[in-house]
Amino acid sequence: MRIGVLTAGGDCPGLNAVIRSVVHRAVVDRDDEVIGFEDGFKGLLEGRHRVLDLNSVSGILARGGTILGSARLERDRLREACDNSEELMGRLGIDALIPIGGEGTLTAATMLSEAGLPVVGVPKTIDNDISATDRTFGFDTAVGVATEAMDRLKTTAESHQRVMVVEVMGRHAGWIALEAGMAGGAHGICLPERPFEIDELCKMVEERFSRGKKFAVICVAEGARPAEGSMEYAKGEIDQYGHERFVGIGNRLATEMERRLGKEARPVILGHVQRGGTPTAYDRVLATRFGWHAVEAAHRGDFGMMTALRGTDIVMTPLADATRELKTVPQDRMDETEAVF
Ligand code: F6P
Repeated sequence: MRIGVLTAGGDCPGLNAVIRSVVHRAVVDRDDEVIGFEDGFKGLLEGRHRVLDLNSVSGILARGGTILGSARLERDRLREACDNSEELMGRLGIDALIPIGGEGTLTAATMLSEAGLPVVGVPKTIDNDISATDRTFGFDTAVGVATEAMDRLKTTAESHQRVMVVEVMGRHAGWIALEAGMAGGAHGICLPERPFEIDELCKMVEERFSRGKKFAVICVAEGARPAEGSMEYAKGEIDQYGHERFVGIGNRLATEMERRLGKEARPVILGHVQRGGTPTAYDRVLATRFGWHAVEAAHRGDFGMMTALRGTDIVMTPLADATRELKTVPQDRMDETEAVF
């Protein structure tokens, strides 16, 4: 079999572990040929690829990023490719395509699959917001990075009696903020799923200081918003990929809390630090299992499907399910923490 693999969308720790696993299973165990497309769907459409053998994936298990490169693709270019799918298939000369990506990539993968390409998807995203799988790799690493940051910030916050506002990633789903906030013992957590009341956050900080505590940490997802009318906050513009550009809730919240409380507040924007560097052991294992199962699915002819984690098992689920609904944080998960939301 000739299998094509690509990584698209925002990168994520564990991508290289999937690529390595695909090559190991396909080349060593199945006698397949694996080619890697460069820079996601762009490389696929432009025919930029290289053969991946054991040497090309040696030593990449623990490496962050993706050896294939990643890029976002304009929807129009993809639609055009779908309209000419037979020509594209002829040009690619592959028996299966394994795209590894998040919501945008899996939507693109669904479109290509519906246009007749033999696609087996692998979900990834640090946001953990794909509903068809219990977990995506990258999330555990991101939560670990954000938790460590909060542990560190607490000691400096206490020395200076400050409020630290830590902004983490998460546009529409606040999983990183929730879990890093819990693990890092944040006193306030702000999620995109539930507009926050700044009065409640300020009350909590004042109450802590009145008990002799000398600092507070607020963990805020980049997509969190204040409740209507509670605090001024501008909406960002939409970029060419349909994503809202955020205008910086971390900065805005720190400024506003400092003004209202008369205490020093500092914003800390973790940004892409959460996506860089080596994946945790959990993410390496999940990514490796996804890669193994994707190759097996290709050999079974399970196209139009993607790998997913259910409990502790890896199962195959329709690609279209991946993007039907975003997995957001439900109220009962918020109820389990004592932080102010
Ligand atoms: O979807 C993954 C993600 O890291 C989001 O958490 C974040 O909002 C976005 O990508 C950032 O995208 P970019 O790398 O294009 O700035």
